Amino acid sequence: MKLLVVGGGGREHAIIKKLKENPAVEEIFALPGNGGMAGDATLVPIGAKEIDKIVAFAKEQQIDYAVVAPDDPLVLGCVDALNEIGVPCFGPRANAAIIEGSKVFSKDLMKKYGIPTAAYEVFTDCKAALAYLETAPIPTVIKADGLALGKGVIIADTREAAYDAVRSMMEDQVFGASGSRVVIEEFLTGPEVSVLSFTDGETVVPMISSMDHKRALDGDQGLNTGGMGTVAPNPYYTPEIAAECMKTIFLPTIRAMKEEGRPFKGCLYFGLMLTPNGPKVIEYNCRFGDPETQVVLPLLESDLLTVMQATTNGTLAETEVKFSNRHACCVVMASKGYPGKYETGFELTIPDDISNEVYVAGAKLEGEKLLTAGGRVLGATAMADTLEDAISAAYAKAERIQFENAFYRRDIGKRALLAGKEN
Ligand code: AMP
Ligand code: GLY
Repeated sequence: MKLLVVGGGGREHAIIKKLKENPAVEEIFALPGNGGMAGDATLVPIGAKEIDKIVAFAKEQQIDYAVVAPDDPLVLGCVDALNEIGVPCFGPRANAAIIEGSKVFSKDLMKKYGIPTAAYEVFTDCKAALAYLETAPIPTVIKADGLALGKGVIIADTREAAYDAVRSMMEDQVFGASGSRVVIEEFLTGPEVSVLSFTDGETVVPMISSMDHKRALDGDQGLNTGGMGTVAPNPYYTPEIAAECMKTIFLPTIRAMKEEGRPFKGCLYFGLMLTPNGPKVIEYNCRFGDPETQVVLPLLESDLLTVMQATTNGTLAETEVKFSNRHACCVVMASKGYPGKYETGFELTIPDDISNEVYVAGAKLEGEKLLTAGGRVLGATAMADTLEDAISAAYAKAERIQFENAFYRRDIGKRALLAGKEN
């Protein structure tokens, strides 16, 4: 089989490595991929948002199955366009990807179907938003409606900061048009859990849970990033909580999307907060998380391609999806300065004996050499029987990978190790 994977980060590298385990897979094209995946996929210089070019390439190469991994092409209708020429895909159509593409859509969906989430108000008028903030409880959370590269959420600890956030989104349009509508919502507290799930629109199968570390620096300090590391499973997510989430969140969401005429197929990502009043949805993503995928997929024991095809064909209920009972940790190695300014172009060496679960996010090939080319450069994942050992093994890998100006958090998994020991 000839497969195509749209996207080019560490998440896509993890997907590609897992897909390759199926012996029926002859070739995987990565559009655009990155230099660090050259050993695992054929790189094609077509951007993830160039839908027409992706479709033309799929037709020309007679692609058997496509995986559309990032949010942008999903929201832009890449799956719809590929389906139109008869290429089956993993991922939702645009009318379902809106669950991530519009925060207003997802909040209204949850309200309509009684799915637990933070209380909220929607504003299209800046003055009305500012007036609301005069009496809103502080801290408060302000979210731009549309996709904003994961940066459209501001937690305001003071009223002044809340006013500034609304003005910058609605008047200065710092996130572009995605800030012309904002959601202002209740600030929730509790441990966060990422639960990715496979769904064919009817059946939903949660994957092993995970915990992201979004801030740039140790101790959850510094700016928000795309994610600096992950562990799986997430120890806060007990079997009791999992059962509750299935009943109050996962199934109701899948049914709601179907009811709305927007059946969701692919990976639906539930960003949850375990609040004192029970689990609530912080956000939905219409795709695999990055870097959650880098710990979740290595623990998947079933064949990924088979499971993905079952989501497309509507046969997920009859398909086995099995995860290992081991633990995984992924340490993201970034370029110093990320998520702000950083330098690139430094030579990157990944020793062969540890390259298996190293997922490259930002690198390019120059001749034989691999050079850094992004903020997040790679994720070093390791698995072990205990969380402690998985963390040590991931750090041992990271220490053996070298490039100038490399930086990474030293405390990935530390909070997870404390779970249940806080009192
Ligand atoms: P998002 O970009 O939607 O993933 O949000 C980024 C981060 O903001 C989340 O991972 C949470 O840590 C935080 N966050 C979002 N919404 C809330 C909320 N209502 N209460 C507290 N924290 C939130
Ligand atoms: N790691 C968070 C995300 O993929 O959105």
